Amino acid sequence: MLAAAFREAGFEDFRFMARLLLADALGVEPGEIVLNPDREIGSAMEALGPALARALSGEPLTRIAGRRSFYGRDFRVTPDVLDPRPETELLVEEMLKRLAGQRSPRLLDLGTGSGAILLTLLAEIPQATGVAVDVSPAALAVARANAEALGVANRVAFHEEDLFAGVIGLFDAILSNPPYIPSAELAGLEPAVRDFDPALALDGGLDGLDFYRRIAAGARAFLAPGGWLGVEVGAGQADDVSALFGAAGFHDFFVRTDLAGHARHVFCRG
Ligand SMILES: C[S@@+](CC[C@H](N)C(=O)[O-])C[C@H]1O[C@@H](n2cnc3c(N)ncnc32)[C@H](O)[C@@H]1O
Repeated sequence: MLAAAFREAGFEDFRFMARLLLADALGVEPGEIVLNPDREIGSAMEALGPALARALSGEPLTRIAGRRSFYGRDFRVTPDVLDPRPETELLVEEMLKRLAGQRSPRLLDLGTGSGAILLTLLAEIPQATGVAVDVSPAALAVARANAEALGVANRVAFHEEDLFAGVIGLFDAILSNPPYIPSAELAGLEPAVRDFDPALALDGGLDGLDFYRRIAAGARAFLAPGGWLGVEVGAGQADDVSALFGAAGFHDFFVRTDLAGHARHVFCRG
């Protein structure tokens, strides 16, 4: 019945969506629905109606569930944070390669949102420590809750600040997935993004590059010798962002493309 509702509404992945929604209502993993298709769903019926209505109106399922799997771990997401995207896992993956062999690297995440990037790295590197920065106190509250749930809260400091303001010390890696949408393009974004991700997480200024300019200007003062900077960029921004960092004195550039072949992450040393 759920799958049919999604199919009629024109969703291509209607079976998958039905499974996720049902699993969420039942409080089980989606795989359990496949393994036990005849399970009793009586008590979940009440939750399913409103959730189905939200899904049919275009709200992403991760928003309805309030959680998202990122790099194999469960993250809480609320309307105050960007829903972490699968491509951002590549930023984590590449930085992990660069940090291999370091026992206790210090990490800085600018614009941490749900904490997906930094908290994943802390979970992957048991002795790493980090600083999570965000201007949004509500986002930081979500990141804190995620840090507790992942058991890494004792290795992270949370700063409610504008980028580098309040940051002290040197870091082996600085990471950021900053807001990068040009302001004039915000209104034309697809509804699943425009209506559900916070504007504060999206608006990158006139040409979308404001945050990269500010990070390029500030980051070298906080990079330990040999340390890496890694940023996510929007479609078509990799060359401009690399040029900005190059002009600020960064070197050893590496650009990572996503599975669709788009240049998504720029890495360099200070
Ligand atoms: C694109 S989201 C990235 C969230 C998370 N790092 C991720 O990749 O899923 C950008 C984040 O930057 C934060 N932000 C916006 N302006 C900021 C500023 N001036 N200083 C620090 N953080 C800022 C937003 O609140 C938002 O959480």
